Amino acid sequence: MRPRPDRIDRLPEQYFTSLLARVLAAGPDVIDVGRGNPDVPPPPHVVEALVDSARDPTTAVHGYPPFAGLRRVKEAIAERYASVYGVELDPDREVALLPGTTTALVELALVLAARGTRILLPDPGYPDYNSAVALAGAEHVALQLADDGRPEWDAAPREHVAAVYLNYPANPAAVAAPSGVFEEAIAFAEQTGAAIVHDFAYGDLVFDGRRPESFLAVDGAREVGVEMFSLSKSYGMAGWRLGFVVGNAEIVERLNLLQEHNRSGIFVPLQKAAIAALTGPQDTVEERRALYERRRDRVVAEIPGARCEGTFFVWFPLLEGVTFERLLAEHRVAVAPGEGFGARGRGYARLSLATADEALDEGLARLRHALAGE
Ligand SMILES: Cc1ncc(COP(=O)(O)O)c(C=O)c1O
Repeated sequence: MRPRPDRIDRLPEQYFTSLLARVLAAGPDVIDVGRGNPDVPPPPHVVEALVDSARDPTTAVHGYPPFAGLRRVKEAIAERYASVYGVELDPDREVALLPGTTTALVELALVLAARGTRILLPDPGYPDYNSAVALAGAEHVALQLADDGRPEWDAAPREHVAAVYLNYPANPAAVAAPSGVFEEAIAFAEQTGAAIVHDFAYGDLVFDGRRPESFLAVDGAREVGVEMFSLSKSYGMAGWRLGFVVGNAEIVERLNLLQEHNRSGIFVPLQKAAIAALTGPQDTVEERRALYERRRDRVVAEIPGARCEGTFFVWFPLLEGVTFERLLAEHRVAVAPGEGFGARGRGYARLSLATADEALDEGLARLRHALAGE
């Protein structure tokens, strides 16, 4: 047997891979309402920008792209941040282009945490952060979230903390940023030297008249941290793999350095499509948000205790004795079990609103039966 580097052995079970395998193994008649894979395609003008660019046979399009990305893409994200979130960014120093925020969240751990230092991760929180911590050889410490999504800072360690990951609107807890939470995070960072990594993947998906709130809109944020933004959710471009890290110039520079060593840039037609998405008409962003909000209304009306202020997920308590396994085996409906998101997720489940209406209706009917004990 070939020796395995400890980096590989440290990796936790990939929650979504094993969940999907369990759901597929249960058979074709299962309705899967657990999986967050956007079901509305990207805007047509974005697809056209990709295709138009790909038709150009020159090396400028099909050769190696500039490693750190086209300047115009970075200007486009800066323009969007200014107009939508009221945040001014320097495209040259404060914006890094990455193939999706999954890559970003791993690379941020690599460029921020020395081996053995701590990274605080929200509990409940997005399981891919665990993989990032493991790859960096850092220590995973749970940052417990109270019921309103606010971190319990007083219970958190303050020594050797390299980074704190936060995520609002939150997956899976589906809460929007509680008021003052970013100020609290900045104070924690100033006192401990930790970097703040805010995952804004669902930034535009907030409901009930809330406005999207960027971490970088708060004074002092860019001195202590960065924000990850993704085209996956706002534009339905999950498969395209496009994301950004914006904010602290030193952290952005480290990401750009890492990218020179392990990525070699992003296909130019994808970058042209990103420009089209970010600078073109934004009506589909609102249509998408409104669609999820309508689905949210249907779901929370049916499931006792269900909650969702943003994201395309609903987080709800499971009644005593109603488990993921029973839902799957007896009721033929799959949700994402809460314990996979951390100890605080035990007894909860996540339902995805990125589910086509017909499947959502059927999944909801099956869940209603299960939760009613029928
Ligand atoms: C909280 C959170 N962060 C990051 C990601 C990764 O998004 P991307 O498609 O940009 O890699 C997801 C995807 O589901 C997510 O839910």
